Amino acid sequence: MSLPLPADLTLVIPCYNEAENVVPLIEGVRQALGLLRWEIVFVDDDSPDGTARIVEREAQRDPRIRLVRRVGRRGLSSAVIEGALSSTAPVIAVMDGDLQHDESILRDLVTPLLENRADVAVASRHVEGGDSSGLANRWRHMLSQAGIRLAQSILPMPLSDPMSGFFAMRRASFEQAVPSLTGTGFKILLEIVLSVPGTTRLIEVPFVFRPRVAGESKLSPLVMVQFLGMLIERGCGGWLPTRFIIFAAVGLVGVAVNLLVSEIARFAGADFATGQIIGTAIAILANFQLNNRITYLDRPLRGKRWLPGLLIFVIGAAIGAVGNIGVAQLLYDTHAHWSHASAAGAVIGVVWNYAIASTLVWR
Ligand code: GDD
Ligand code: MN
Repeated sequence: MSLPLPADLTLVIPCYNEAENVVPLIEGVRQALGLLRWEIVFVDDDSPDGTARIVEREAQRDPRIRLVRRVGRRGLSSAVIEGALSSTAPVIAVMDGDLQHDESILRDLVTPLLENRADVAVASRHVEGGDSSGLANRWRHMLSQAGIRLAQSILPMPLSDPMSGFFAMRRASFEQAVPSLTGTGFKILLEIVLSVPGTTRLIEVPFVFRPRVAGESKLSPLVMVQFLGMLIERGCGGWLPTRFIIFAAVGLVGVAVNLLVSEIARFAGADFATGQIIGTAIAILANFQLNNRITYLDRPLRGKRWLPGLLIFVIGAAIGAVGNIGVAQLLYDTHAHWSHASAAGAVIGVVWNYAIASTLVWR
């Protein structure tokens, strides 16, 4: 018996709650790729709808189908990175698992890469012949356009659809990008093109973005916050991590909550100290929840891990506050300006809290 031949192409498909779409998708890929030597890697984040079970069943029937299953983690970009890293084929394609990406253009997308005539091929909704009518509504259209403009403003090369999640690349280009990928959010193509050398050969292939039939979109306001954080990180050369930018923004929300709640307490007749205590307590709780839902969306604390996490967060914040006030006081005593001293204290407080959050709370 002869051994099966290794794949020339790995198709990475990130999935979260796409159970109904798996079988039609595999069928579409079989039709589209025919006798090319391909494999599919589904990357599933332990979807509650049983997506993984369906992939397992299909994998038992066809060895070209593989599953990477991540438990306790979430995230489209990191799923794509890990799926690509789990394979060795010289060309990697990435496609959504919800049938919105038209698999019939796969061949046009990957052929120039297989023949080494290009390094990255992007399926674009915004070149002649492409179409984005599958976006759910006008609001999504507007958001998509705004995102494209923002992304284009930091891109070193022209690209009509940097927000596309449908693309292919030669493994060599992917390897060049890997060390600088943050893996946060939805926009992995954008991160990759921001991370490859200027000599990378890039082509675009038109495609029609289809409306979603089964399941629902996972794009949420949180994903948009992550997108802005990622753009800021890349915009300032990568020295400020996305997570820190989001953490600091959440901290500002906490300050606003604190002011608001203590004002309300004052109107309700509380004395100054009581107002401060209530305001601070609610602000810390709000910060903890926001961080759990946004900043650490990829590894939220749930169930039994929630309360211990909150306790460490509170203790950390209390120690941070002492340090924050101490530094501000010290600077003020050495004749620094009032506002400069308190700004320095605040910066130290944020950095401290971030260090505690990232190492002890959301490990
Ligand atoms: N493993 C994993 N983990 N997969 C995920 C996750 C996650 O946390 N979140 C989303 N996915 C999968 C979905 O199951 C789907 O297969 C694909 O990623 C895209 O997610 P959708 O929720 O369908 O996103 P969309 O349709 O709003 O956004 C798409 O359109 C954008 C262009 O407007 C995506 O294709 C984007 O990549 C694309 O840029
Ligand atoms: Mn979709």
